[in-house]
Amino acid sequence: NRPRVWVSQPLFDDIVERLGEYFEVDATREVTAWSPAQVAEKLRGADGALVTLNERIGAEAIAGAATLRAIANVGVGYNNLDVAALKARGIVATNTPDVLTETTADMAFALLMAAARRITEGERWLREGRWTQWSFDTLLGGDVHGSTLGILGMGRIGQGIARRGAHGFGMRVLYHNRSRLPDGIESNCRAAYVDFDTLLAESDHLVLVLPYSPATHHVIDSAALAKMKPTATLTNIARGGLVDEDALADALAGGWLSSAALDVFEGEPAVNPKLLALRNVVLTPHAGSASLATRRAMATLAVDNMIAALGRGPQAGNPPTPITGKATAKR
Ligand code: GLV
Ligand code: GLV
Repeated sequence: NRPRVWVSQPLFDDIVERLGEYFEVDATREVTAWSPAQVAEKLRGADGALVTLNERIGAEAIAGAATLRAIANVGVGYNNLDVAALKARGIVATNTPDVLTETTADMAFALLMAAARRITEGERWLREGRWTQWSFDTLLGGDVHGSTLGILGMGRIGQGIARRGAHGFGMRVLYHNRSRLPDGIESNCRAAYVDFDTLLAESDHLVLVLPYSPATHHVIDSAALAKMKPTATLTNIARGGLVDEDALADALAGGWLSSAALDVFEGEPAVNPKLLALRNVVLTPHAGSASLATRRAMATLAVDNMIAALGRGPQAGNPPTPITGKATAKR
């Protein structure tokens, strides 16, 4: 009687196939927008599920899933999971940290630079046929090198962004976090801890990399935006709900903020029409970890986590990657 595992979205067939060595696998073949009722239905009778940020694993679905023992989230953020409800039932929940850190830090830098140097705006302008003659003052942006980089949320990804800024671009790096990092990490990242208001006031380029929760909902609101430099950029690669998008659109339209780069949105895949109407915002479709190698590593880690969590195969002796800690499922 093999455990039953649901895989909510297509990952990579050759990686998902490994689950078939141990489990009855219900693998989704096409990208699917599962409703909450459908998620609940799929979890009913399942022993485990590999899910993505698309699937909300809420208290009701968990209550109806009597045999559920493990959820492997394919991603590092896990605000889609009701962690308290999972814990109360003793259901193991895992995520995929570490394997996506450097790729996501690369993306943060790509976005920051695109906002500062008006890359996507310039491309749209060119494609519209408006480049009729080179001119001295076209598309003037802000500098990245030597400027002040602000990082809100100094986890692994934040530290990767800090290292890039300090060591690659000679930036002064400031960060704010729930707790201050040990001196060794601060010096390795060449980053200085400051309070939230100082971070807002001093950053030329502010990057959001903190987890989303009710406590961090709209941490960037109109009051926070008002404290930023009018020449600053804002980059969000974490979760859309961290930013009050209407307030951000007003700041960008009113010239209180130079530009923004957003990979995540509060109502994604829908994007606030006020943002879509602005020229000074770079928009990407939640693709921070989207390199082929990293997405393969994420799928592999999620599969390993499920095998370990349900106590099967050579992974059985390895603890899975618990969402509260560092990765431990070794390959
Ligand atoms: C994607 O946003 C992730 O959390 O991995
Ligand atoms: C998670 O928050 C990370 O930075 O890896």
